[in-house]
Amino acid sequence: MKNIIITIDGPAASGKEKISQYISKKWKLKHLDSGILYRRLAFIFLNDRIEINKVSNIKKKLKEISSISYNKSQYLRTQEISRLASKIAVHNCVRLFINNLQYNFVKKNKKIKGFVIDGRDIGSVVFKKADLKLYIDVNPKIRAKRRYKQLIDSGEKSIYPKILKDIKLRDKKDKLRKNSPLVVPKDAHIINNNGSFNSTIKQINNLIKEI
Ligand code: C5P
Repeated sequence: MKNIIITIDGPAASGKEKISQYISKKWKLKHLDSGILYRRLAFIFLNDRIEINKVSNIKKKLKEISSISYNKSQYLRTQEISRLASKIAVHNCVRLFINNLQYNFVKKNKKIKGFVIDGRDIGSVVFKKADLKLYIDVNPKIRAKRRYKQLIDSGEKSIYPKILKDIKLRDKKDKLRKNSPLVVPKDAHIINNNGSFNSTIKQINNLIKEI
């Protein structure tokens, strides 16, 4: 039987993770957060002091990496890693490397019912033939407020105007890059997540029931 694939794209801090986790639990689908893969790579480059302004350095390092973990960790959520992840994500070699990890993840887990995969290019590039494509839309100020609260709750020092500036900068980088920019994928349903979580998941559950 074919696995179900639900893709969730949207800008930074739009609530993709919380929504994906909810869908994963309710509909018994395996969750893959593609942003974590970009963050893990950013962490490796930072730790190994790779000069990322030179694409040849990035390509050389990618050849040395045989696997990376899909597990989430709080240390990958810092502003420094967020910024670096979005910088390396502009390179085609990085995107191809991470897309392959995602294809392998789906291939390895053939026996399960399906997947919910979130990121920036999942419905538009990585899984174009997904069964359901969602695009999460939220005003940048609301996103910044939510991210600020998240960081404060997790014990990181944080300043709201700086978060808002960072979010706008990451949006710009994600939307304007040449390779796999953040777009509303063809056939995607735009989900308004400016309001309560309950109203968001109500819109989504109705769509999932139809597939
Ligand atoms: O979603 P998250 O904020 O964890 O992603 C970190 C960064 O990785 C994003 O700002 C984006 O630049 C990049 N990314 C991407 N494509 C994806 C997932 C993440 O370019 N599918």
